[in-house]
Order: sequence, then structure tokens, then C-alpha cells
Amino acid sequence: MDTYVINGGNRLSGEINLQGSKNSALPIIAASILVDGNALIKRCPIIRDTVAMKELLLALGCKVSQEKNLFKVDATNCNKDEIPEDLMKEIRSSIVLMGPMLARHGRIKLTHPGGCEIGSRPIDLHLNGLRQLGATVNEEHGYIICEVNRLIGSEIDLDFPSVGATENIMMAATLAEGVTIIRNVAREPEIIELQEFLNRAGANIEGAGSNIIKIKGVNKLHDVEYEVGGDRIVAGTYLCSAAITRGEVLVKGIIPEYLRSTLHKLKETGCTIKIMNKENIFIKAPEKLKSVNIKTMPFPGFPTDMQSQMVTILTLAQGTSIIMENIFENRYKYVPELIKMGASIIVEGKTAIVTGIENLTGATVEARELRGGASLVLAGLAARDVTSVIGVRYIERGYEDFVENLRNIGADIKRVN
Ligand code: UD1
Repeated sequence: MDTYVINGGNRLSGEINLQGSKNSALPIIAASILVDGNALIKRCPIIRDTVAMKELLLALGCKVSQEKNLFKVDATNCNKDEIPEDLMKEIRSSIVLMGPMLARHGRIKLTHPGGCEIGSRPIDLHLNGLRQLGATVNEEHGYIICEVNRLIGSEIDLDFPSVGATENIMMAATLAEGVTIIRNVAREPEIIELQEFLNRAGANIEGAGSNIIKIKGVNKLHDVEYEVGGDRIVAGTYLCSAAITRGEVLVKGIIPEYLRSTLHKLKETGCTIKIMNKENIFIKAPEKLKSVNIKTMPFPGFPTDMQSQMVTILTLAQGTSIIMENIFENRYKYVPELIKMGASIIVEGKTAIVTGIENLTGATVEARELRGGASLVLAGLAARDVTSVIGVRYIERGYEDFVENLRNIGADIKRVN
């Protein structure tokens, strides 16, 4: 079984060239289906999720080539209208293919994504939005079939600012007839990136980053080149790797504003944070971290995707921290693994109470989802003795060259199988 073996205790120090954002790249690759011509996407992270998205586009008939971090998509022959079940299971983000496929082909059949490792993750907001643009949506025998002759612009109010639903509706509305206004949209940086990509290809979208987006439908999109921005969650993870090892690290290639709430909490723990040359973040950890309280919220609030990394560093902080997870219902699955390493954490519903201890101790622990898995690596970096993290395929869904990057800043970690 593929395993990360970590000899904990080294103070990390050095520089990281940050990978492109997974959560920006995935919808942008999906949006390439809307483009009449070639979409060139630079700084695409090479991770299991982007590779799976590439496989999906190939299965739908697109031409996709990849040279290092450059993805090139030509959707001219994208004429299949069914997403294969195995690929749908491999990557939940395949749901964001609904909008572009409907807009370009008028039909898409896929399996219901169902439950997943961090909670039930319903898709009602995606489906309601597409219905309001005129699509019919039938759910039968575990399949979803969406069809439409021509999407028509509409006014849509989201009950919750879902990232995926905002993206799906934006992409569908890009080629719809007339104007679409979406209210209470997600304000995450990934939405700004999607708007930028689509507009460069000839779309007419405004408002991303605020809570209302306006889309004037256009007839077609043209060739486009786009470079994906840095991954704010991976950046946050590397900052936490310095925080938990009393180290100092420079993470290069990220808009600091996108990490504001994470940086704010890291400062509260006693870390020194400096922004250098507009898009590099330097962190220096104190000898002992301080406890902090955190509530996860939609952007610009504290991201749920950073919750497990912060809980992990707080296991070694002075005092008690209270964490409230407000976005997903089952996002503490990594906690029993941290407890195996000696952490003192009590989970009650949405709340985790973390009492700082002096040392974590190495153990064999299992990653069960992406960010929780990365957090076990963070724990291993600080723990006494050897930690073996199994289930690394989850971590490799989102982290490009994780082991190599950590080794470059002084970690004693290797991947064995
Ligand atoms: C995206 C991110 C994920 C991040 C999450 C929240 C990608 C590929 N993934 O996931 O890393 O953790 O945003 O920041 O970008 N919901 C509904 N009905 C819907 C859709 C969502 O009730 O139709 C609920 C979900 O159950 C959840 C909340 O809304 O409680 C947030 O989900 P959403 O913002 O949609 O997350 P994703 O787009 O799936």
C-alpha cells in the first residue's frame, strides 16, 4: 500500500514554488467545453483530480493534450453526452460538466454523485439553477438526465452560496439567450478565475467576487489562453507545515488577499507573517503556538478546506481552541487518527475542542479524504518518532509533488509502496 513515512521533528525552512489551484483548474477545464477553438490552460496542477477531469473530457470526445502543467483542450468533437459512471465516482467535481454540456449540446446524462467522504453533498442548487434556465432535469434509477433546446437567461436566487452551483450556472448562462442574474453567489477566488477565463474567451460576465453575478449570453466563445492562480489551500497547508515545526517558509506565487482569513488566524497563533513582492508569503513560527477559535464560513470567512490543518497545528498550541465546522457535516474524520498520535480533541457535532499538548507521537494513521489526509502529514512532521500515513491516494488528489516540496524545505519524508 502506498504510504508516506515521516521521521518527525525537523524544523522546516526554505521556499516553495506554489502549484496552480485545483479548485480553479477543475471548472476551467470543464469550461473549455464551451470554447469554439482551443483552450490553453497554463499552471494546471498535475494531481489525480485534474488527470481525472482530463479523462472525462476525453470520454466526452474532446481532444486533450498535456505537456507538463499546460493543458490544451479542443472540444470540437465533444459529441458524447454521457459521463461514464466510473469517472463520475472518481471525481465529484464532474458535476460541473453539467452546465457546459447543456449549453454546448443540450443534453447530459450522469450518475448521481451521492454521498462522499465529507458529508452528503446534495446538488439541488445546481439542478434548480439549470431548471430556471429552461432545462428539464429527470432523476431516475440513480441517473440524472438534463436536456434543453436553448437555455434562456433568468434571475436565480441561491439558497446558499454554493461554489459548484455558482460555477455550473455561470457556465450554462454564458451561452444562454438573454441575461442571467444570479444572487447570493459564492464569492470564492475560484469564481473570479472562472469569470476571467470565460471573459477572455469572449463571454460577458460581471460581478464575480461580489454576491451578484450578471451574465449576458453570447453565441460562442473563441480561442483562449489562461494561467491558473496559486492554490490558496495548498499555500495554507505549507504555511501550517512551518507553523507546526517551529520553522520558517516562503510560499511563492499566491495572491495574499485570497488567504486573508487563514493568515489572520495564523497571526493569532503567534506566527509572524510577511507579504513579500505582492505574491509571496513568509511565515515564521514562534517556539510555542497559542490557541485560537475558528468558525468555517463561505469566503471571505475561514475556509472549511483549511479546518483540519489548523486543528492539527492547534494540537500543539498552548491552551484550548474551539473550532466550529459550518460547511460540511462530516469533516472531522481525521480526528481519531490524530488522537492515535496523542492529540487531545473532543468532537461534538459541528464543534471540536482541542487542548494543546507538548508532543505528538508517531503512529500508523490513515488518510480518508484530501485535506484531513494532508493534516496527518503535518502531524507526522512535528511528531516524535516515525509516522506512516496510508491512503495517500486521497492526498494526491490535490497536492502536486507534496513529498518533494516538503523534502526541499527540510522534511524527512518518503513515499514507499
Ligand atoms: C467546493 C470546493 C471544496 C470546498 C467547498 C466549500 C471545488 C472542486 N471544491 O466544493 O473544496 O470545500 O467548495 O468551500 O471547488 N450544497 C447544497 N446543495 C447544493 C450544493 C451544495 O446543499 O446543490 C451545500 C453542501 O452540502 C455544503 C455547502 O452547500 O454544505 C457548500 O457546498 P459547495 O459550496 O457547493 O461546495 P462544492 O462546490 O462541492
